[in-house]
Amino acid sequence: MSEFQIRKDNYLTHRIVDFDLSQDELQENEVIVNVDKFGLSANNITYAVVGEMLGYWQFFPPHTNDEGWGVLPVWGFADVTRSNNPEVKVGERIFGYFPPATQLKLKPTHVSDLVWVDGSSHRQKLPQGYNLYRRVEAEPGYHPSQENERMLLFPLHITAFALYDFFASKSWFGAQQIVLISASSKTSTGMAYGIQKDQNAPYSIGLTSSNNVETVKGFDAYDAVIGYDDLEHIDASKPTTIVDMSGNKAVIGRLHKHLGDNMTFCSNVGFTHWTEGGKNLDIIQERSEMFFAPTVIQQRIQDWGMDGFNQRSFEYLAHSYACSRNWLKMTDVEGISGVQSVFEDLCKGNVPAEKGLIVKL
Ligand SMILES: NC(=O)c1ccc[n+]([C@@H]2O[C@H](COP(=O)([O-])OP(=O)(O)OC[C@H]3O[C@@H](n4cnc5c(N)ncnc54)[C@H](OP(=O)(O)O)[C@@H]3O)[C@@H](O)[C@H]2O)c1
Repeated sequence: MSEFQIRKDNYLTHRIVDFDLSQDELQENEVIVNVDKFGLSANNITYAVVGEMLGYWQFFPPHTNDEGWGVLPVWGFADVTRSNNPEVKVGERIFGYFPPATQLKLKPTHVSDLVWVDGSSHRQKLPQGYNLYRRVEAEPGYHPSQENERMLLFPLHITAFALYDFFASKSWFGAQQIVLISASSKTSTGMAYGIQKDQNAPYSIGLTSSNNVETVKGFDAYDAVIGYDDLEHIDASKPTTIVDMSGNKAVIGRLHKHLGDNMTFCSNVGFTHWTEGGKNLDIIQERSEMFFAPTVIQQRIQDWGMDGFNQRSFEYLAHSYACSRNWLKMTDVEGISGVQSVFEDLCKGNVPAEKGLIVKL
């Protein structure tokens, strides 16, 4: 059994650590699952960037006790291989949040037909959406052939749905155009497909690296695609709202300065350019706000009920997944050692935008 660990102070330093759960006696209601596969994208790197602030290091404490190492969460599928829980049988397949590791111990609670919640004590104060495991074989419409798409895109496109819904509910902050920064990211394209389908939504502009401009045009997601170097070509006479996935303070500052009073609102969602933080005095703080999808989703589940949320979000995801299928190339990565071999490229933004990394254990 092995797990992938990274240094919390230098993500490019990583290692594979062996561990053994085979002799562990299971406590009441505990199960062991074998992780089968998971997706990887810039989102997983962001879990490290905001790991201390938002608690992402706490989900899966490393099996070693030495200071300074952490385990990044990933989204994937696993099978129950041992069970001391009368409601969860060996062989059950689940979808949810895992470590990049071959095995994990969980404690299913609140078991219902479709879901259960990990009741492990160290996860109780963390956002509950991440502790939910879906019992996929009980889901109507579940098919194994859709697993790769789901584990890669679900966490990103459910955020895209939450963003789309948030902006639509605020009448797009009065904007005539909306700029999405780090437009080649799957979270951005997921939102752009929702905007494209909505006749009341503003004109959309994708802002991306110059070497990604042609690729992003090919995604057919935005009304216009512009490179970071050319962002001053955006029409600053129109009220404009911004969704930022990059965390690149220099780019955000330049865009805010260029738009001035016409920058109606900026949603700070991600940190794909995680090395480009710091301060920038041109950023208009009073019209900027952090966006944390789990909180917004929880609020909508309260507003609409679980069924209402599922109905609206599934409809959205069906469309955004279908649009992404036209260009997204799933690429297999073999085993935990494979994670090591792609990790540097992932950290440095060297994975081509059209690639979807699927790790198979
Ligand atoms: N707030 C929330 O609740 C929430 C939820 C989900 C996702 N997010 C965030 O949304 C962001 C997008 O995630 P994703 O998984 O959709 O991304 P992704 O598909 O893996 O995005 C890849 C793109 O990100 C940019 N990039 C990645 N690493 C880079 C680096 N080191 N330097 C410069 N550019 C880099 C490049 O785009 P460009 O050339 O276009 O810049 C690259 O093509 C992440 O930061 C993620 O955490 C936030």
